[in-house]
Parts: sequence; structure tokens; C-alpha cells
Amino acid sequence: MKIKKAVIPVAGKGTRFLPATKEIPKEMIPILNIPMISIVVEEAVKAGITEIIFVNSRGKESIENYFDRNLSLESFLKEADKNDQELLIKNIGTKVEVLSVRQKEQLGLGHAINCARPLIGDEPFAVLLGDDIMDGEVPGIKQLMDKHEELDCSGVIGLFEVPKDETSKYGIIEGDIKSEGLYKLKSMVEKPLPDDAPSNLAVPGRYVFSSEIFEYLDKIPRGVGGEYQLTDAIKLMAEEKDVFGAVLEGTRFDTGSMEGYLEATIAYAARDEKLKKVILDSVKKYT
Ligand code: UTP
Repeated sequence: MKIKKAVIPVAGKGTRFLPATKEIPKEMIPILNIPMISIVVEEAVKAGITEIIFVNSRGKESIENYFDRNLSLESFLKEADKNDQELLIKNIGTKVEVLSVRQKEQLGLGHAINCARPLIGDEPFAVLLGDDIMDGEVPGIKQLMDKHEELDCSGVIGLFEVPKDETSKYGIIEGDIKSEGLYKLKSMVEKPLPDDAPSNLAVPGRYVFSSEIFEYLDKIPRGVGGEYQLTDAIKLMAEEKDVFGAVLEGTRFDTGSMEGYLEATIAYAARDEKLKKVILDSVKKYT
């Protein structure tokens, strides 16, 4: 079945970006002039997703508003003869159908995904985390959607290789290799020490699931931090069903952390020759 829907949970509190996130959703913080969430939605749209479901929370309405039309700004720009800008903001509001559902209490990523259940029904769907940016020729989520269609399985999880001494920063999988870059998932461990890590394959925020995942999200108890962890539901599902991990091609930026955010900003700026010069000159001047 072709995947048309993507769930993007954005209800978190973004504590690593305080004080900015006291009033601005983390996902609306821009990489240069583009909000991070817009880069993530663009990835989904390029992959063929036609319906985005935000799992949102109180105070973060600007995320939905960003993907709505702003008719008064459009007519202001039209009258001011700023046609390029008018088209730019018009496009944001017309590219994709956006629905949203509230997560009334922030009880974890697993709980957030379960909140989207009424809007998913029994279709397979994609999940993209709003604070992970994937950059590459083929959109990260498209790589997983293609694998899901080919394997006809219960889930495909995006993977990337990390240095062995950094496993304690990530969720790490245990799996059996099936072919180059493809693993049959046996289990997952959250942030293991290098000596305890079953592999060096980490999980960024890209997944494709069949609707069976909801059964497992219903079964899991509260886990680490008192939250319903998506990892626990995936582990449970992998014990009974076919779940695969696929190594993603491209670059991943963990824009939920200050380091990853800075790296992404530099990478995006360096594509413009003028801005690249500013980066190089500034490094010389200020470091
Ligand atoms: P994170 O744990 O990285 O995001 O969750 P956070 O909680 O917003 O940020 P920090 O760690 O406090 O800085 C990954 C994604 O899952 C969403 C977040 O919005 C983020 O996009 N999330 C997390 C929810 O939607 N609901 C939750 O209960 C938890």
C-alpha cells in the first residue's frame, strides 16, 4: 500500500533550547531563514507524502499557522510588487494538506505517535522527528518508504553508523544483516556504553510503520523518564513481527542539540558563496 501520510510529533518542550523555547517552538527556530520544521516537511513532500499530521501541544500553534495561508501578508506583498516573496509564502500554505492533533500531556514520543491513531486508521505511515534534519539526494524518509513497499513488513527504521565510542548518545540496534545496509531488527538499546553496545547502528528520527505499531504502543508501560517510549514499542513489535533497519544515505543533523544546529546552519550557509566567505572570514576573525 502506498504511503501518503506522515506523522510529525512536535509537542515536546524543547528544554535544550531554552530560553528561546520559552516562547518559540523549537521546530520554528530557523536554519538561516527557513524554520527547521519546513525543511522536514519539504523532505516528506519530496518523498510523495500528501498529508502531514502534526502532534502538537498548547502554545505551539505557530507551527500549524506557518503552513496555513496568510492572505493579508500575501496581498501586502502583491501591492508592494514583491512578487517573488508573495509566491514564496503562498507556496508554503498550498503544497500539502496539514492536519493536527493535540498531545494534551507530554508523556513521551510513543504516546505522541499514539495520539495520531484516529487520523491514520489502518494505513501504513511515515514518522519524521521535527528536530532531525536529513540531507541528501533521495529524501531519507523516501528511502524507508521504498524499503517498506519492497519488504511488505511491519516497520522500517532509519539507521546511521556512529563511531563506537559515541554509542552512549543514541538508541542503538541489535540486528541480523540481510544485505548491504539492511538489518532484521532483533532489539534496541537506549544509549548503551560502547562495551555494551550490540552494534554501532544508531536510530535517527525516521521511521515507517504499519498500523500494527498502535497495538504495541497500547501494550507498553511507562519507561525511561516515566515516558511512553517509542523504542519500547518497536522492540516489542520486533519480537513478533518483521521489522527492518535500513542505513540511510545522506547527512543527518541532530538539530535538537546546539552542536547539531550549528553544524546544520554552517552546512546550509556554505552552499551560498557569499555566506561561505562570511563563515571563513568569521572563523579567522573570532576564533
Ligand atoms: P525530544 O526529546 O528530542 O524533544 O523528542 P523535546 O522533548 O522537545 O526536546 P528536549 O530534549 O527537551 O530539548 C523528539 C521529538 O518528539 C517530540 C518532540 O517535539 C521532538 O520533535 N515529542 C517528544 C512529542 O511530540 N511529545 C513528547 O511527549 C515528547
